[in-house]
Amino acid sequence: MRIILLGAPGAGKGTQAQFLMAKFGIPQISTGDMLRAAIKAGTELGIKAKAVMDAGQLVSDELIIGLVKERISEDDCKKGFLLDGFPRTIPQADAMKENGVSVDSVIEFDVPDEVIVERMAGRRVHASSGRVYHTTYNPPKVEGKDDETGEDLTIRPDDEEATVRKRLAIYHDQTKPLVDYYKGEAEAGSCSYLTIDGTQPVEQVSALIAETLA
Ligand code: AP5
Ligand code: ZN
Repeated sequence: MRIILLGAPGAGKGTQAQFLMAKFGIPQISTGDMLRAAIKAGTELGIKAKAVMDAGQLVSDELIIGLVKERISEDDCKKGFLLDGFPRTIPQADAMKENGVSVDSVIEFDVPDEVIVERMAGRRVHASSGRVYHTTYNPPKVEGKDDETGEDLTIRPDDEEATVRKRLAIYHDQTKPLVDYYKGEAEAGSCSYLTIDGTQPVEQVSALIAETLA
């Protein structure tokens, strides 16, 4: 099963990826998590990406396409994968096609910008695993601590309101065109396309996805 999670920053892609990984036994490929890991490790890629990410801009297509191509060729991706945060430009989607990487399902999370701004203000993350929480809507069992490891949760540097608004503007400009792109692919029979009302509670969104992909 090869799935693309499509949606604005804060729409719930990472949250539902946790659920889908467990359900289908496929790895999550989060380009955002991969870049954050590179920043933490101080690699050349991380050094290049940090300023761009902190400013809420997109990292270059060339860099991201190379990163995903390499990751998809790994053994654990043979049974399928979950793309979270990729593709997010038309050239990235075209590159997948040109490399012969087909997808089974595209799931779009529909969430209004104002809901997103509120969500980002309460987001807390466990950086090393990518697990995501919200102080009100998806709280950890112990405040400020990851459920599985008990380690501290942190705030992402790009979750400041002004940066979130910039990321949303970039989403509407550069990523939203992928909605029509993949609806076109679905009409041509290449994949299924599902739009989910992402404003519903986390468990309800999971249930809706499970129902459709069953
Ligand atoms: P990335 O890490 O991909 O960030 P993003 O796409 O902006 O998405 P987020 O991770 O912010 O949101 P999400 O949809 O995963 O929401 P979440 O589940 O966390 O990218 C970061 C940066 O890396 C980019 O800005 C760019 O610079 C670079 N980058 C990455 N990929 C790239 C690419 N392909 N090309 C170029 N550059 C790239 O949920 C958010 C909050 O809401 C959480 O607190 C959560 O608990 C809560 N929540 C989730 N669902 C619900 C719900 N149903 N109800 C209530 N609260 C909910
Ligand atoms: Zn995410």
